[in-house]
Amino acid sequence: MLSSRVMPGDLSALKAEGRRIVALTAYDRPTAEVCEAAGVDVLLVGDSLGNVLLGYETTLPVTMEEMLHHVKAVARCARRALVVADLPFLSYQADPAEALRNAGRFLKEGGAQAVKLEGGDRSAETVERMVTAGIPVMGHLGYTPQSAHIFGKSVVQGRDLDAALALLNEALALEEAGCFAIVLECVPREVAQAVSERLAIPTIGIGAGAGCDGQILVFHDAVGWGPGATLKFVKPYANAGEMLRQAVSDYAREVREGVFPSAEHAFAMPAEARVLFEQELSELDAGCVE
Ligand code: KIV
Repeated sequence: MLSSRVMPGDLSALKAEGRRIVALTAYDRPTAEVCEAAGVDVLLVGDSLGNVLLGYETTLPVTMEEMLHHVKAVARCARRALVVADLPFLSYQADPAEALRNAGRFLKEGGAQAVKLEGGDRSAETVERMVTAGIPVMGHLGYTPQSAHIFGKSVVQGRDLDAALALLNEALALEEAGCFAIVLECVPREVAQAVSERLAIPTIGIGAGAGCDGQILVFHDAVGWGPGATLKFVKPYANAGEMLRQAVSDYAREVREGVFPSAEHAFAMPAEARVLFEQELSELDAGCVE
């Protein structure tokens, strides 16, 4: 395990040494602290927070301000992990200058060390401009959730020869443009492995098999908290959802039954003050205070 902060360039070194990269999403302090304690290398403040935290149906409504709010929270707590901030829909696609400014905000105001954006050829120039300005960029290919309406129901990308070769070429274009790593989402494992073998920079897979150089999951899915835990490519390592539901219903029952709070969870007056207070109260109750 590296002891100081993981920096974008360290991920290629890990790949070269054959060490797999561990990444998870984190949107807040408790998650960042749990991940830090477990030695997670990369914390992605993903725009998936739109679905997972904010209740949107897709990631499309997520704004820069919403992202910044969470990036700051994670960056305040992450000591060792590389913090990557996800550029939300339309924060980088419409205008190159705006894209650069938005990416810069994640480093300058948010405290992240890198940004992530979706797309291959269509994003390569933007990546180049950001890297030239000193902003490390993680790419994202395969199923890119900001294009959910274009993909429709076809989740797995790169299934036939043409699509697989196109994905490989897009990955090479992103590497050439200066990305320090690429997320491969919902790609057949053979394709993900072939891409990983042909890049010097690492691939971080999600639903892309074991041939990637690292893996990422949405934190809530990985701990079994929410509907994502049942997706084919997710392995829930706990049943946090059930554990939390149980804890909350125990709390509700104990409050209703008067079991909580017991004396153990309450403050008491010092004995002397209590005697005086009780005397005062009985006089008050008897109506004899002048
Ligand atoms: O937004 C996100 O959480 C992501 C990961 C699933 C890679 O992009």
